[in-house]
Amino acid sequence: MATVLKNEAVGSGFYLLKASGMYDAKMGQFCMLRAWDAYPVLSRPISIFDCDGEGISFLYKVVGQGTELLAQLKPGDTIDVQGPYGNGFPAVTGKVALVGGGIGVAPLYYTAKMLKAQGNPVDLYLGFTDEALLQQEYEAVCDELTVNIGGYITDDINPADYDYIMTCGPHIMMQVLADKVKGTAAQLYVSMENRMGCGVGACLVCSCKTTGGNKKVCKDGPVFKAEEVFGNV
Ligand SMILES: Cc1cc2nc3c(=O)[nH]c(=O)nc-3n(C[C@H](O)[C@H](O)[C@H](O)COP(=O)(O)OP(=O)(O)OC[C@H]3O[C@@H](n4cnc5c(N)ncnc54)[C@H](O)[C@@H]3O)c2cc1C
Ligand code: FES
Repeated sequence: MATVLKNEAVGSGFYLLKASGMYDAKMGQFCMLRAWDAYPVLSRPISIFDCDGEGISFLYKVVGQGTELLAQLKPGDTIDVQGPYGNGFPAVTGKVALVGGGIGVAPLYYTAKMLKAQGNPVDLYLGFTDEALLQQEYEAVCDELTVNIGGYITDDINPADYDYIMTCGPHIMMQVLADKVKGTAAQLYVSMENRMGCGVGACLVCSCKTTGGNKKVCKDGPVFKAEEVFGNV
């Protein structure tokens, strides 16, 4: 069990929660969170927003009972943090663009921070429906931040400018990006957020069709090469 260090509203219905403990987190991985006894039955998968010597952070949107219960946590409360799980974004060398839509921006903070620490130029493109989240924090971990509120963040990026593009967000946004990347040299990685059951490869709830057959988002992903999920890119 971990201890909640902070759990603060950072937007309308969006919270940033930090839990105590040492975690070996890789870019784009997630944890299964639980702060209740019997119901809801399942723990909830939430991407790792950040990880440091004090603990691990999660940026989440309240959408239902599990996330409502998370939002009620106070510093000093206990929370079950299982993980980190999954295959996240790869370590690369080159110019990188990270493209997030909505709560899909969550895994991109730690990813940007790590890729920058590894010496890569990193630009961030974040799209929101009506309010930007944690703009100053994101600005601090990249070379250039582009924020789009109410429009299409995919309109703002020229894929030919990058060696690698990594994205997380609505399926349609990632599909549009995959189409836009076609014919360029950029390699695109997508992070899938299928609904999950166990989070550890045992139930097949998270199954995802790929060019290599059905794969488990929790164990084989959540990050895949775009061509595996969207066909030729
Ligand atoms: C790998 C992974 C990483 C994720 N990272 C984050 C994150 O960093 N921050 C965050 O806020 N959320 C994230 N999610 C989504 C998060 O897991 C769900 O929003 C959460 O489980 C909802 O639980 P709930 O009990 O509040 O709502 P529920 O009562 O379970 O659902 C409420 C509503 O949300 C919809 N919903 C639930 N799960 C998903 C999903 N995976 N995709 C689309 N719609 C869904 C349901 O269909 C329903 O309409 C992630 C999901 C995955 C699989
Ligand atoms: S969530 Fe159970 S196999 Fe992926």
